[in-house]
Amino acid sequence: MAKNAAQWETPPTFPQTHFVDSRVYTDDAIFQEEKEKLFRPSWIIACHESEIEAPFDYRLFNHPAGVPLIVVRGDDSKVRAFYNICPHRGNTILYDPAGNAKRMTCIFHQWSFDTRGTCIDISREEQGYQKRFCKEDAALREVKCEVAYGGFVWINITDNCMPLREFIGGAMDILEPYMEEPMEVFHFHKAHVRTNFKLWHDTNTTSIASPACCSPAISSAAIRRLRTGMRRSARCRSSTTSTKGRKSARWAGRKWRLAAGTWSISFPE
Ligand code: FES
Repeated sequence: MAKNAAQWETPPTFPQTHFVDSRVYTDDAIFQEEKEKLFRPSWIIACHESEIEAPFDYRLFNHPAGVPLIVVRGDDSKVRAFYNICPHRGNTILYDPAGNAKRMTCIFHQWSFDTRGTCIDISREEQGYQKRFCKEDAALREVKCEVAYGGFVWINITDNCMPLREFIGGAMDILEPYMEEPMEVFHFHKAHVRTNFKLWHDTNTTSIASPACCSPAISSAAIRRLRTGMRRSARCRSSTTSTKGRKSARWAGRKWRLAAGTWSISFPE
């Protein structure tokens, strides 16, 4: 039976502790607190190592705590991560979402950095600073970075964070045996989702939606939409992809393939 206004406003007869306060989806102060307490101390996957397979390959990553990062494979093949912020006056250093850069040069005053974060050139260093400052005094800000669990690149922007293995604990025990197979990214999709990250997560993981989505009555239409969406994604790929079309001998034998994605969460206005 339909409800009138009074009935609509009456809460269900659950205990108060069973309600979710909707401010968790809309309150900016809560979101800022989540960025500091939830995302900043956590190990987070930035990309997969196959996206930066060759020395000097890099990929940009916007950390959910609000820090723009560069993930780069060094001349020694080690993967490192740095703030994508110039130590001179805070300009963004790299703009292309992915690429290969033997040196990373800020476009503002042309300070250059190598893939280990060392400052290798300051333009007009002698004229500008005489003996007061030199390139040895400058460097990129490095953050914790590890390649683990199937070749994923894990980032932590808190210097005194707990080790990755300790942070993960037993959470990956069930998956780890399958992660020994080599993997590579075969598709990259980027979406701007103008919503709170929990709403996105809740909507896509709720078990009550599954029976409806899997219903035979709508399955063919759903599959058609999915295929259309996939074709659209493939078309978008040329403008938003960060993966490279070429495959080196190193990755040619890889058996497992990954679909990678990034979500840019905007807070509701
Ligand atoms: S801000 Fe980067 S070189 Fe000046």
